[in-house]
Amino acid sequence: MTELIRLEKLQRTFAQGETELPVLKDLSLTIQDGESLAIVGPSGSGKSTLLSILGLLDDATGGHYWLRGEDVNQLTRQQKSFVRNRHLGWIFQNFNLIGDMTALENVVLPMRYNSDIPSSDYQSRAEALLQRVGLGHKLNALPSELSGGQQQRVAIARALVNKPSLLLADEPTGNLDSGSGQSIVDLLLELSTEGATVILVTHNPDVAQQCQRTIHLVDGVITNASQ
Ligand SMILES: Nc1ncnc2c1ncn2[C@@H]1O[C@H](COP(=O)(O)OP(=O)(O)O)[C@@H](O)[C@H]1O
Ligand SMILES: [Mg+2]
Repeated sequence: MTELIRLEKLQRTFAQGETELPVLKDLSLTIQDGESLAIVGPSGSGKSTLLSILGLLDDATGGHYWLRGEDVNQLTRQQKSFVRNRHLGWIFQNFNLIGDMTALENVVLPMRYNSDIPSSDYQSRAEALLQRVGLGHKLNALPSELSGGQQQRVAIARALVNKPSLLLADEPTGNLDSGSGQSIVDLLLELSTEGATVILVTHNPDVAQQCQRTIHLVDGVITNASQ
């Protein structure tokens, strides 16, 4: 297997007035291409902070992060945003869809920032993805006309539109009933069997158990040994 992510003694400390709040403390971790990994741990343990760094939305304050062998610290802002757009897909607990855009328009949006995709392909590509997530009949629905599970499916279609190799999901089932939550997990794991790497933050042990590997984060430290 190929190594996708390597963290070495990664730290993230937030300044709080005069003092500093260490949130991630010397995290070391490797993640292989195509893995499905769950991150669990109590509220406030640093899960979202870690995911933001992995997804290049935030910078570590110490240690190293290599993504596909590239030292993330050495990337310019522009290079980071390129990697975010082309290689990463995000899924959030509250779906983060744009309320006055249809399902189709929400899925088209990230393609507008990807010059490799001709605009003549936007519509067909978005339609195909919405069909893939079971929403071929809801292309023109607004988020408010969709159930939570359906909104999360739109968000997944949107996350997939630039064919990311890494999917980052922060409590993707947190706002869903267990039935629709499970179908979202099924979908994410299906994507992982097709070659995407999936990193999923969850509170739900049943969800974590379905991933190939789980890391427990407590107070900014990985507490289980299987790194
Ligand atoms: N931007 C920030 N500024 C200051 N403190 C932060 C910031 N983001 C997160 N924190 C703090 O870091 C800790 C971990 O937060 P977070 O990563 O959101 O935890 P989790 O996702 O595990 O619930 C919390 O104490 C939180 O208050
Ligand atoms: Mg969180």
